Amino acid sequence: MFRLDEKVAIVTGGARGIGRAICTELGAAGAYIVAADIEPSDETVKLVTEAGGKAESLKLNVTDQATVDETVRAVAKRLGRLDILINNAGIAIDRLLIRISEEDLQRTFAVNVNGAIFCAKAAIRFMMRADAGRVVNLASVVGEMGNPGQTAYSASKAAVIGLTKTLAREYASRNVTVNAVAPGFIDTEMTAGLPDEIKEMILQQTPLGRIGKPEEVAA
Ligand code: NAI
Repeated sequence: MFRLDEKVAIVTGGARGIGRAICTELGAAGAYIVAADIEPSDETVKLVTEAGGKAESLKLNVTDQATVDETVRAVAKRLGRLDILINNAGIAIDRLLIRISEEDLQRTFAVNVNGAIFCAKAAIRFMMRADAGRVVNLASVVGEMGNPGQTAYSASKAAVIGLTKTLAREYASRNVTVNAVAPGFIDTEMTAGLPDEIKEMILQQTPLGRIGKPEEVAA
């Protein structure tokens, strides 16, 4: 397995689900993990430590640009570097188009799109100075395929794909790569509440015929 010793990684939404699995995977590979979440959890730090890594958790709301700037700057200054940003924090408000409110749209885009841009902006500033950096954004298959009941979410994930491609073009010359992973249906709290018929419909379109695990996305 590749090693990430000495590297510092910020993982947004690192308190549970896919973010927590990413923290554990990167931590096991040697990176120092900053699990940033609106509801931070000691469980992530415990799991990273058990996997042989080092981690801290901190409170961060990715929708607040000033706080994002301040937090990322403080982490980079205190730890002396910032190598990896995983833009994983996300929310899904699942409603048919005719039931979507303006607030649903604003909340979804505030976290999934604005939040990813704010974090990338704050982190890439430091990565450019170091002439090195890795940004990975969590998109979703629904950002490419669409999914009934997920207008706001799929539109926000399509936006994540677009912003990923733009940032990749903007910062490749500074040795900062920007990529996205677009997982299918993964077993986390985000998907736990989906009605059984929707789960069944998604599984029918999933070649493996089963729901994915957070660790598979992290890997
Ligand atoms: P989850 O709901 O289990 O975890 C999301 C985490 O983000 C939570 O810890 C939550 O507190 C945090 N968060 C939410 N709003 C935040 C904010 N404003 N600031 C900071 N943190 C915030 O979700 P899950 O399933 O682990 O998803 C992680 C990412 O993967 C999301 O971006 C999601 O859209 C994406 N994804 C998930 C899939 C799935 O099937 N579960 C499939 C494809 C993509």
